[in-house]
Parts: sequence; structure tokens; C-alpha cells
Amino acid sequence: MNLNEEIQKLKTEKNVAILAHYYVDGEVQEIADYVGDSYYLSKIATKVQQQTILFCGVKFMGESAKILNPEKKIVMVDDSAGCPMAHMINVETINNIKADYSDIAVVCYINSSAEIKSHSDVCVTSSNAYQIISKLPQKNILFIPDKHLGTYISTKIPDKNFIFHNGYCPVHQAITTTNVLKAQKTYPDAKILVHPECHIDVIKLADFVGSTSEIIDYATKSHEQNFIICTDNGILHELHKKNPKKNFCLVNEKQYCPDMKLNTLQKVYDVLNSMDSEIILNEDLRQKAQTSLARMLELAN
Ligand code: 13P
Ligand code: SF4
Repeated sequence: MNLNEEIQKLKTEKNVAILAHYYVDGEVQEIADYVGDSYYLSKIATKVQQQTILFCGVKFMGESAKILNPEKKIVMVDDSAGCPMAHMINVETINNIKADYSDIAVVCYINSSAEIKSHSDVCVTSSNAYQIISKLPQKNILFIPDKHLGTYISTKIPDKNFIFHNGYCPVHQAITTTNVLKAQKTYPDAKILVHPECHIDVIKLADFVGSTSEIIDYATKSHEQNFIICTDNGILHELHKKNPKKNFCLVNEKQYCPDMKLNTLQKVYDVLNSMDSEIILNEDLRQKAQTSLARMLELAN
């Protein structure tokens, strides 16, 4: 049996559902039961029948699945895979900013720790942030930690007062307008598809801005032939799979999240055997963090 077959056998024997994000390597996406963006993965984690979920992604994704499903066993393929942006804000900063406003909602991007979620009113992902924040009654919005996603959403909701923190995704921040304009010179007719974790100046060059799933949907439905892709290169796997005759071009060599790429096929096999990197959360913290994630699922519906 090859590694893929061994994984399928173990997964069935142990009754495990495998969830993967579009940024992990294509061969890992191929063995997963469910592949999607952050919002889809948080929703599907609440629906799978299996008692155990193996997560191919980064820690905040596994933590979110555990927060929403305390009775399930959530195991990470590599428990050292984290999102650096998740640690760019702390509770003290949130409390200091909150103290200055009587009418404020703390909105945290799902790319945050369980502790930050436990101090937030509502969680959002890139595909539901606009919808959710538009529905909030508060005038002031403390958007943490991603200043770029927050800035982009603030342009779409001008009647609210956004307060940002200095968090960012290193992979998306490294995509520059120079990179995009250079790619556009080579492919002048290409549509520019941008993830909202990119800088607002890059977003301004876009033909379409959306989450990973939304970028894939846009390219798949489009009648165009060429696309410039401003997000992690893992997305190319699904883009090529769904659109074998279309061309997708990256803009620099750094469109590569090192943490997402820690999820390898060999580690999937090893962890299915050992089941030793389970997400364990303090129950009090989990309950507090659940409120903001549950509110996201409710308001995004
Ligand atoms: P989405 O899949 O929600 O677009 O998120 C992108 C991301 O950076 C995940 O870490
Ligand atoms: Fe975090 Fe960026 Fe990697 Fe996503 S791509 S996990 S936001 S570092």
C-alpha cells in the first residue's frame, strides 16, 4: 500500500474526519474529507459525524473547532503550526482601548488565540466580516488583529468608526503594488484576484477581493483566461483542479506560509497512528471563547 492508501485505511479504521485549508500542499488537500476557507472549516467542524477531527492547517483553526465542539477530539497534524498574526495583540491592549469608549464592539479575526476570542464580542473571517460588522449595533469597532483586513472592511462600512491594531499576515503583507504591476505588464489582460489580508494599496489594484473560497469561485465562474493571484500558493491546487485550461500567475516568491506547509502527508500518517497532538483547552477559557465564535455563526447565517 502507498502512503495515500495507508492514510485512507487508518482514517476509516479510527473513524476520523480530515479537514484541510486551501493553503496546505495539494497532496494533503487531496487526502482530506473537507477542504475550504476558514469560515467553511469552522462550520463543517460542527457538522461532521466522526468523533475525531484531524486538522491540516494552523493552531487557531484546530482551537476554533475545539471551542465549538468540546465533546470531539481535535488533533493537529503539526502542533507547532501557528499563525504569527494570532499573537500580534494581547488582552491588555484590548482593555486599554475599550476603556476609552462607551459604545464599542471588539471584533476579532478568527486568526487569533482562544484567549483573544474570549475577550471579543464577535469573531469574523474574511468571507463574513462585512456581513457581520454591518449588523452590529455599536458605532465603534475595535478590529483585531489584522489591520489590513480591518482597513478594507472599513472602506465598505463608512458609517462606523474603526479602531485598528498593528497586526498583519507576513505572507500577504509581502505582496507589494510593484509585484502586482510587474505581473500585470507580463499578463496585461489578466484579472487581479486579491485576498483582503493584503495592503489596501494592493487591494485597490484588484478586480476581485475575497477569501480563498471566494477567489476560487470567482476564477471558476469567470470567462476570462488569465488571473494574477495575490494570496498563498496553496490555493493554486484547487484553482488548477477546477480550471485546467486557465492560467494562474503568482506575483512574488514569498507567497508561501511556512506554518501551513508544515502539514505534510507523512505527518498526517504519523499522527493518525499516534493521535498525540490533541488540542486541549481550559474549560473556562473555552466557554468564554465560544460566545464570540457562536455569534459569528449566528450573524453570518
Ligand atoms: P480564508 O481561508 O478565510 O480566506 O483565510 C486565509 C488565511 O490566511 C487563513 O490563515
Ligand atoms: Fe497566518 Fe498568514 Fe499563514 Fe494565514 S497565511 S496562517 S494569516 S501567516
